Amino acid sequence: MSSYRILVADELSAEGMQLLNQAGEVVVKKGMDEATLRDTLPPFHALVVRSATKVTARSLDLAENLAVIGRAGIGIDNVDLEAATERGIVVMNTPEAGAVTTGEHALALLMSLARRIPAADSSMKQGRWEKSGLTGSEISGKTFGIIGLGRIGRVVAERGKGLCMKVVAYDPYVSEEQAPIGVQLMDLDDLLGCSDFVTVHVPLSDQTQHLLNAQRLQSMKPGAYLIHAARGGIVDESALCDVLESGHLAGAALDVYEEEPLGEAHPLRKFPNVVLTPHLGASTAEAKRNVSLDMAKQIITCLKRGITLNGVNVPRIAPSEAMQVEPYLTLARNLTAFLAQIHEGKVESLRLTLQGSRPESCAEPLTVAMQVGAMQNRADIPVTPVNATRIAENMGVRIHTESSTLKKDFLNLIRVEAVIDGVRHFVSGTVLGNRHVRMVEFDEFMLDAIPEGSLLVTFHRDRPGVAGRIGTVLGENDINVERLQLGARTKGEGSAIAIWNLAGTLTRETLKVLQQVDGIEQAHRVRL
Ligand code: 3PG
Repeated sequence: MSSYRILVADELSAEGMQLLNQAGEVVVKKGMDEATLRDTLPPFHALVVRSATKVTARSLDLAENLAVIGRAGIGIDNVDLEAATERGIVVMNTPEAGAVTTGEHALALLMSLARRIPAADSSMKQGRWEKSGLTGSEISGKTFGIIGLGRIGRVVAERGKGLCMKVVAYDPYVSEEQAPIGVQLMDLDDLLGCSDFVTVHVPLSDQTQHLLNAQRLQSMKPGAYLIHAARGGIVDESALCDVLESGHLAGAALDVYEEEPLGEAHPLRKFPNVVLTPHLGASTAEAKRNVSLDMAKQIITCLKRGITLNGVNVPRIAPSEAMQVEPYLTLARNLTAFLAQIHEGKVESLRLTLQGSRPESCAEPLTVAMQVGAMQNRADIPVTPVNATRIAENMGVRIHTESSTLKKDFLNLIRVEAVIDGVRHFVSGTVLGNRHVRMVEFDEFMLDAIPEGSLLVTFHRDRPGVAGRIGTVLGENDINVERLQLGARTKGEGSAIAIWNLAGTLTRETLKVLQQVDGIEQAHRVRL
């Protein structure tokens, strides 16, 4: 583990740094532009950023060792996702840790707007006692329109109800059943037309770029307030200035901008009824600590165990499910890699069959894990959960996943069937207890083998003395055998199989010697 090199390019809390430092060699270098990041990245396995560092395609050009980019925070618009995916680099964020804090900031902006707190404070600091120009609006009983009912939108919705507001929401991805109780779903135009306060909580994407454009801002209820703490670019700032100038909106509060930092002379700065904060949405001590700790744990899990939590370019696994899902991912990947390393040739199709509630509940990541196992030794670039599907598609591999009862005497079972060079092969495995992976079937053999680490797999004549001779060769080459599983055929005549879990690496030369041992028909090295 200590061989991993981690580059931290933005501010992380002391707790997060401490955790990362235990995990590998950590270098902190902030304020890098594209060229500096590009030149700095080559030796690193992981990069951790917040929103300040821009991870562009060019900055990744030389990053040959980079396996993961961790965005300690929610928004990932500062990372070129396509470029990272293209290069097989996992990108992950921490969607949970900053949600409450960001939702609370939106509510702080709402209160500030409604009661003119920043203007009152500034007037007091100038020695005045001014009441007449600072009359506010009551929020109780007002309609609160929430655009986006994701994690942050839901935090805001719950608190809005607690403030006795009538909460309405627009989210095309949320059904009536999924909406929080007491929140009325409606389409965007209706929401804009009826809300006294509108708050935005969607990510920035091609679909949400200028979601609140001139026409939509104009369609807002006259005298309404707009709160924006999501991402710069969702609200058209120039159109917003127009509706503020005309008096159509009573005010607006913004934490995020089309260009950050906001220009000194930006017109938004001149409105007395506009409250501005410098992208402070996630800036509480609690959120800073939590995003840093979450990201440090995720980076370690990714580098050490190959498991991606909160991945944004791989099927998502929530951290709360990681412990339960991890052994199944290992099993699906290793069973397939075992099969694909023994049977060389062109993989034409892969079929994954899942039995049992746990494997069935994570069919998508397991399908990807199977593709990683199959493609690992067949692609000329490193195969990761990020690029495995694309590599398999490009190689014309047909993929199928299904749930079915395969063997009633197993509580859970994963079966991979692969057609390689026109011949059908299969391998099955199970998870014992919560974490012990076992291979229980391979082609025509029944087994109880551990599909992990360095393996020697022999097919040999089923007669006394062969295993002893193999053991002698391994001993002479100083290779310790940790476990040996012998398997006879379930049907038909022919060779027996032996799976040797080895403590050391089997060299090509030793393998050649083994292939000459009397009684051996085939000997393979398998690395899982
Ligand atoms: C986020 O997306 O998490 C927030 O916008 C905070 O960004 P920051 O990490 O730069 O504070």
